[in-house]
Amino acid sequence: MEVLIFPDAQSLACKSADLVESQIKTFPDSVIGLATGSTPLGLYEELIRRHNENDLSFTGVKTFNLDEYVGIPANHPQSYRTFMDDNFFCKINIDSSNTQVPNGMAENPLDVGPAYEKMIEKAGGIDLQVLGVGTDGHIGFNEPTSSLGSMTRVKTLTKQTIEDNSRFFKPDEFQPKLAITMGIKTILDARRILLLALGENKAEAVKDMIEGPLSSMCPASALQLHQRTTILLDEPAASKLSLKGYYKFVGEMQDDLVRKHRPSDWISR
Ligand code: GLP
Repeated sequence: MEVLIFPDAQSLACKSADLVESQIKTFPDSVIGLATGSTPLGLYEELIRRHNENDLSFTGVKTFNLDEYVGIPANHPQSYRTFMDDNFFCKINIDSSNTQVPNGMAENPLDVGPAYEKMIEKAGGIDLQVLGVGTDGHIGFNEPTSSLGSMTRVKTLTKQTIEDNSRFFKPDEFQPKLAITMGIKTILDARRILLLALGENKAEAVKDMIEGPLSSMCPASALQLHQRTTILLDEPAASKLSLKGYYKFVGEMQDDLVRKHRPSDWISR
């Protein structure tokens, strides 16, 4: 795991956009896995800015979102499809037929996962997966005790996740308790992973993910098994890491080496 610590959300957003941009520029037909939540919004804003100001193009790109609620239609204001359309897809030049979000309104939600896996496979697999992390250590909607070998499927949300996400729903509005999510194995199959975390409320999950034991109690700790994962943190999210000084030291030591010998080291394929 590569751990990068940034002074603020803006510098983190710029660095994550640099990484996504070099992936797309090197392979214009890249397959990118995307996440919802407040954390990647800065990344999406920065990519939109680069699209508008620097002609960064998404015409060849295919995307697969991590997850979607079960039981609300795609055009619901709180659906993840609406979130992605409003915050990203409608503001760049991507063909909507190249953007996939699991169908939370399928007649049989249990059929959605295997079909989603086939679509990812047909697209050639995910080159770069963007992730956030839940306060309980979930990635996608893989809640604690999710199988580390899991594939896309229906999951029941924990009380903590329902509570964390209740801020997006009106008090009397139906809030889904089930979701369809890529599995942990689906995520680990991505060639390159970028996980972003901001704020002190993520510090415990971040510590468990990076320094805790590999355990389904912290699903994000499964990323310890992945060869090419970069974790981008702001200072508050990094505040509980025991080896914080070491990660900064590694960054300083490796920056020059990697820049000189493997300038595009982090690009997948
Ligand atoms: C949801 C999403 C996750 C996301 C998490 C954190 O539960 N399913 O993919 O990482 O929220 O969201 P936020 O970035 O708003 O803290």
